[in-house]
Amino acid sequence: MPVDLRSDTVTRPTAEMRRAMAGAEVGDDHYGEDPTVNRLQEVFADLVGTEDALYVPSGTMGNQIALRTLTRPGDTVVAGARQHIVIYEDGAGPINAGITFLTTTDETGQLDLASVEGTLDSASPSHANVSLVAIEDTHMASGGRIWPLDALTALGGLAASRGCALHLDGARLWNAAVASGIPPRVRAACATTVMCCLSKGLGAPVGSLLGGPAEVLEEARRQRRRLGGAMRQAGVVAAAGLVALAAPLDRLAEDHAKAARLAGAIADRWPDMGFEPEMVQTNIVVFEPPEPDRLLHHLAEGGVLAQTVAPGRVRLVTHADVDDAGIDLACRLIGKAP
Ligand SMILES: Cc1ncc(COP(=O)(O)O)c(C=O)c1O
Repeated sequence: MPVDLRSDTVTRPTAEMRRAMAGAEVGDDHYGEDPTVNRLQEVFADLVGTEDALYVPSGTMGNQIALRTLTRPGDTVVAGARQHIVIYEDGAGPINAGITFLTTTDETGQLDLASVEGTLDSASPSHANVSLVAIEDTHMASGGRIWPLDALTALGGLAASRGCALHLDGARLWNAAVASGIPPRVRAACATTVMCCLSKGLGAPVGSLLGGPAEVLEEARRQRRRLGGAMRQAGVVAAAGLVALAAPLDRLAEDHAKAARLAGAIADRWPDMGFEPEMVQTNIVVFEPPEPDRLLHHLAEGGVLAQTVAPGRVRLVTHADVDDAGIDLACRLIGKAP
């Protein structure tokens, strides 16, 4: 089996997850009657500190439901130019919610508070209503970078002061929590809605959750039905999610340490590339090697899979199914890369 560093979504369910799935108590979640889904939603809401939560098939659907719930067609959403919700969801936001994204730079993963403030305050009668600010923590395209807590708090305060909602795409909020030592519920306190994935670093096979205030979630439930996301006896997969959330989050620190080793190997191989290994804070390494296609080919030939996430930008992602020997191999290959 190759060492698969393309994404942290490639993990396979553990034996404990498979046992839990086989024995899951289920009901029809369309009627709110699946006890395992209901339990998962409660556990998640408690972890992220929201009144209510909704189980959805994917992170993309969670983001789309947030857009449809917190905006109206014609509205503008302020977001970082390289966020998943903006460029990695196949243009879904404008189609599903009728919104336009007004993007601001997010090279470091964060949005600049002053530019968001300028955008919110530049509204005039001919401008579309800005109803939502969307952010991502950790921020995938910048290499899994973390928002500082004070920046999250300041942005949350700004959005609230302008009557604007804040959606947090926390697909990897767990990684941000472990790397910063700040619990998910504290990091998510700035947001109106928070979406988190179970199917990435936590290793569950399927599913994400959207948390938020009860009245927002009531509408989100309706939007999930509209998108065809009510999954009937979904307890079968939700059971694996419960196992994922019950496991100590600290395991993610191992993924972060492995990513740091890869970052060190990259900095050693291309010392003049301007790559700063200390900027790798979680489980994602993004860099711009001189010959990306040749590098991907060289890695694949040696048994390591990677991919580009933008032209010229190679991404390596660590996860539970990559062991130290796999990282050793990847580092050796990087050391001999063309
Ligand atoms: C930051 C971020 N948000 C959302 C998603 C979407 O998750 P899914 O693949 O479950 O639709 C991803 C997936 O890679 C992601 O990286």
